[in-house]
Amino acid sequence: MRYAALNQGGDDLASYDGFIPAGDDFSKLPEPYETIGRYSDEQLYALALYVYSLRPPPNPNGLDAAAARGEKVFEHAGCAGCHTPPLYTNNKLTPAQDFTQPPGAEKKYDIMPISVGTDPNLALKTRRGTGYYKVPSLRGVWYRSMFGHSGWCATLEDWFDARRMRDDYVPTGFMPYGVKTYAVKGHPFGLDLSAEEKKALIAFLKTL
Ligand code: HEC
Repeated sequence: MRYAALNQGGDDLASYDGFIPAGDDFSKLPEPYETIGRYSDEQLYALALYVYSLRPPPNPNGLDAAAARGEKVFEHAGCAGCHTPPLYTNNKLTPAQDFTQPPGAEKKYDIMPISVGTDPNLALKTRRGTGYYKVPSLRGVWYRSMFGHSGWCATLEDWFDARRMRDDYVPTGFMPYGVKTYAVKGHPFGLDLSAEEKKALIAFLKTL
């Protein structure tokens, strides 16, 4: 909800010395923002409680033989260092590529001093950019799609396809406006596994 407040301040309600990016003629906040202003703390707290109350759908995928082999692949490939069971995330921040941390940041925040090298633009070049990404949980990847923080890969198969690194790659999910091809760089983990290992790994991930 802090992030909701940050986004309201940075986008919908932003005013730069009277220049209002979201505004009519860039000079006046559009309704309803002019009247209601930012969400109140009470509203954001209620929204947080609502989000906590949501339950994921029951997972139909059991740990069959293929998934059990995949669990071993997950262990050997070192995924658990970052995607640590039982949440399948270590909940740490990871600096975006080429981000120089301010001195003392590691004392204030739970940072893992490794960058996974994915596209740094959202973390570095937007008004809400913090310089970091957070290790996502792998729980529920079976019913999710659009992987990577911009949703470049529609499926797990695409996320673990080494061809995504190539400049002539056509992403199955999001790609920046106006381009025909786009290399989905970074997070090289698991890309060099055999086809068999990848299949088992994905079967395992779908049980989480
Ligand atoms: C050094 C830490 C690290 C290691 C090791 C690691 N990951 Fe990740 N993983 C991340 C981070 C950080 C992201 C988010 C990257 C982004 O979107 O910019 C991520 C994203 C993912 C995603 C996409 C999730 C989503 O919701 O978009 C999957 C799936 C995934 N990792 C699986 C794996 C598997 C399987 C392994 C082992 C083969 C592995 N990871 C190894 C840190 C790691």
